[in-house]
Amino acid sequence: GLKIVTIGGGSSYTPELIEGFIKYHEELPVSEIWLVDIEAGKEKLEIVGDLARRMIEKAGVNIEVHLTLDRKKALKNADYVTTQLRVGQLAARALDEKIPLKHGVIGQETNGPGGLFKAFRTIPVILDIAREMEEVCPDAWLINFTNPAGMVTEAVLRHSNITKIIGLCNVPIGMERGVADLMGVEPSRVRIDFAGLNHMVYGLDVFVDGESVKDQIIKLITDPAKAVTMKNIHAMGWEPEFLKALNLFPCPYHNYYYKTGDVLAQELKDAENGETRAEVVQRLEAELFELYKDKDLAIKPPQLEERGGAYYSDAAVRLIRSMHTDKCDIQAVNTINQGSIEGIPYESAIETSCVITKDGPKPINVGKLPVAVRGLIQQIKSFERVAIEAAVTGNYDTALLALTINPLVPSDRVAKLILDEMLEAHKDYLPQF
Ligand code: G6P
Ligand code: MN
Repeated sequence: GLKIVTIGGGSSYTPELIEGFIKYHEELPVSEIWLVDIEAGKEKLEIVGDLARRMIEKAGVNIEVHLTLDRKKALKNADYVTTQLRVGQLAARALDEKIPLKHGVIGQETNGPGGLFKAFRTIPVILDIAREMEEVCPDAWLINFTNPAGMVTEAVLRHSNITKIIGLCNVPIGMERGVADLMGVEPSRVRIDFAGLNHMVYGLDVFVDGESVKDQIIKLITDPAKAVTMKNIHAMGWEPEFLKALNLFPCPYHNYYYKTGDVLAQELKDAENGETRAEVVQRLEAELFELYKDKDLAIKPPQLEERGGAYYSDAAVRLIRSMHTDKCDIQAVNTINQGSIEGIPYESAIETSCVITKDGPKPINVGKLPVAVRGLIQQIKSFERVAIEAAVTGNYDTALLALTINPLVPSDRVAKLILDEMLEAHKDYLPQF
């Protein structure tokens, strides 16, 4: 059977993943799951690990669950390594969300200054993992869920010898499920042609049973009550004329770029009420871990669906299943561009529809992006590249350059204020600076 190693195994999301491995066990014969965490996450690891074992036992499948703080030992001879770690945990996320707000800038864990600092904290750790993999499991696939997933994927592509890396996000699958709900059909009948970057992905076209329903979807989602969104992003709707002219299906994260002022106002209100996303998630986590401790619980509790990452197990396990069985179905993942989107570097990570083979994802050719979004996508990619360089070198000037060219940041002066405050606030997790 297959050996799976999950780094950040003590995460409250682990029951998602376990549920997926149980559901697909016949097609995907996993025999061992190693949940790895760090000393600070030991207690959570044990609680989640016990629940995982109960879930597996109840389902009657044969999967061994190993819990360990010894990452390198766990990685040895792995077939698939998944990463879902959060450097600095939710306390660091709270800072990412709150500090920018003080300066009138969006506070979000994967966009703007928050995304930059999450990249700074995460990239060195992921590159360490990549180096260990080169030593002890050079043939394994690295499937990264850790945000910012696009930047993390590109950092591994550019700064390690690991080429078998895929970045995975639940936004594409969430958009497909959203369309299925709006159209009243099973998700399996929906297909979206995706192109763009992580949390900056567009549906170029949307199909039900192979017939385009893009025009209908573009009309429906102008209504906030019918917005296709995730639990972590407020439903807002769109100006109908704007969306008709855009003629694309935006992802929930486009709110931050096309409705910046409205989102900022909402975030300020949330912050005043103690309801930044980090605060909401801290409360949810506490509740989840209380549930997980209950020895009678042997399923993924429905409360987990209140998290923005709901259904990511489907995305993860379907991806691994399709690689293992050479299924050649289409899924949207973060992978090396290789010329499929014109105007994005060959070596850069993109999020796009791919054919999933034993040899990894093969991006379906996109060619030229529509002119209205080409510039934004290229700008975000430039930001990501400069951000990765700063994350790897720890160069202050490069970090300031990255923050200043981010479209959510109004000036070099404000960028510098935010940068200095965040470097200080996160200094325990930024050894490179
Ligand atoms: C979305 C994103 C994930 C992100 C999650 C946050 O679904 O795709 O990348 O981690 O939301 O959810 P949370 O419940 O932590 O706010
Ligand atoms: Mn995501």
